Order: sequence, then C-alpha cells, then structure tokens
Amino acid sequence: MDELTGAAPAKLNVSLRVGPVRPDGYHPLAGVMVTLDGLEDVVTIRRSDRRAVDSPVARDEANLAWKALDALEQTVGEPLPPLHVEIAKRIPAEAGLGGGSSDAAATLRLANRLLGLGLDATGLETTAARVGSDVPFLIRGGTQWVTGRGDHLAPMVPIEGLWALVTPPVRGLSTPAVYREFDGLGAANPIPIAPPDRSWRDGDWVRNDLWPAAAGLAPELSVRAAALDALRPVRVLLCGSGGSLAALFDDPDRCRAAANDLGDGWCCRPGEAIPI
Ligand code: C5P
Repeated sequence: MDELTGAAPAKLNVSLRVGPVRPDGYHPLAGVMVTLDGLEDVVTIRRSDRRAVDSPVARDEANLAWKALDALEQTVGEPLPPLHVEIAKRIPAEAGLGGGSSDAAATLRLANRLLGLGLDATGLETTAARVGSDVPFLIRGGTQWVTGRGDHLAPMVPIEGLWALVTPPVRGLSTPAVYREFDGLGAANPIPIAPPDRSWRDGDWVRNDLWPAAAGLAPELSVRAAALDALRPVRVLLCGSGGSLAALFDDPDRCRAAANDLGDGWCCRPGEAIPI
C-alpha cells in the first residue's frame, strides 16, 4: 500500500462558550462540536523521496499537515518515511470551519494507517493536541462535548434533525485576533460544565460567545446575519471564530430552499464519527 485518500470534513461549533483567558494565553472552552457531512477537503498521502505538502492555501511548513507529521514523529520517537500530502480544498480558509485542522487530523489518520504505526484514537488525539486546539476533535469527529483548550473530548449522541446552511466567509478572520478582541471586550462569563440535555431547537445553549468580538472586527458579519435571518432559520450562528456564518434549519427542504434563495453556501448535516 503506497497511497491512501480520505475525507477531511469541516466542523461546526453548535455551541461555543468561552471563559476568561488563562495564564498560558488560551481560553477555557465548552461546547458541542459536530463534523459536517456536505463540506469537506480530500487528503491523499503517498510515500515519496522527500516530505511535501501540496495545497492551494498553504504549502509545506506553512501547512498544519506538516506540523501534524512533525507531531507524529515526536509520538513515535523516530523519523518517519517521507510522505507527500496532497490536499484538495473545498473548505474556505479563515472561516471558522476547521479546514486546516481537519486536513491535519486526516493526515494523522492516514499516515497512521499507511505506515502501520498502530496508534489508537487516543494516541492520535494526544498527538493532535500538539498541532492545534481543534485537531483532537477532528480525529474522530461526529458529535462531541469539547472542553479544556479544545482537547478534552466526550462523544455525545448524534444531533438529530439539524441542517446547516454554511455560507462562505464575509472575510477571512484571524483566530488570535478574534480572541484578542474578545479579551478587550471583557465579556467572558463562566462556562457550562456539563453538556446540554435539551434539543438544539429549544435550547438557548446554541450560541457562540465569540460573536460580539467577530462582529466588532467585521461589521459586514451583521449584514450577512440579517440576510440569513430573512430566510427564517431556527437560528443563525457564527462558525468558530468566523468569518463564516451558518443558518440552522430543522428541515432539509427548507435548508436547500434557503441555499437556492441565497445562491450560495453549502447545505450540511452533522456527520457520523470518522473511522480512524
Ligand atoms: O491552538 P491553536 O493554535 O489552533 O489556536 C490558535 C489561536 O486561537 C491561539 O493562539 C489563541 O489565540 C486562540 N485560542 C485560544 N483559546 C483556545 C483555542 C485557541 O485563545 N482554547
């Protein structure tokens, strides 16, 4: 076996609660994350004579997939045979959809299989935590309750009856810049310690604490949110740290009709857990 291909799905924070900044510069998080069925990159890895990462967004060392291979070598404790990673991008960058993180997670899953390293899901998640805060969740995806820096994971019952119209970012937003703005607003509240026990439809838990910070940096987000509200979704949500928004529907036809009306975006639903 010299080559493997796999999907790298986008993620959606169905809720993202953010506490006050920690001494290490990260923020304590709590929320429900899902991988999305309907918006994904495709990652192919093959053995090669030198390591390379081929992506239209960021190549080689600039790509999180490169950092993922470094982290994997650190876990294994010895240099790995060189791999060529090729990424076919559909997930927009700087959108809050976890595209780069998901490419890195897919690289870890595929390299583990191609090279027969024998790491289990926990081993891959521990490795992923050294790559970035969203990467551990994206190893297994599905629906999970995510806390800590993003690295404490608890699988949840899949969310039923949710369709998300995910729209392209109004503009790319830098995650550190949004968190800095969040700190500047001084709006951090205590975060929940337990996963929600009510449906997403009647739960006020479906919210993103980064909204005021992102909307402060990119006022056009509020214009886009109003346009999505006019499509009468159950709720409009900022994706991660932005700049994409998602309109959440409880009916697939209404989601598709809204995508038609808008003439843009991807109709997605929460995906199954990913086999490692
Ligand atoms: O972990 P990662 O490198 O993906 O995080 C990118 C940036 O997002 C961090 O440098 C930090 O500014 C912010 N962040 C945070 N708290 C988290 C996760 C990310 O402040 N829990």
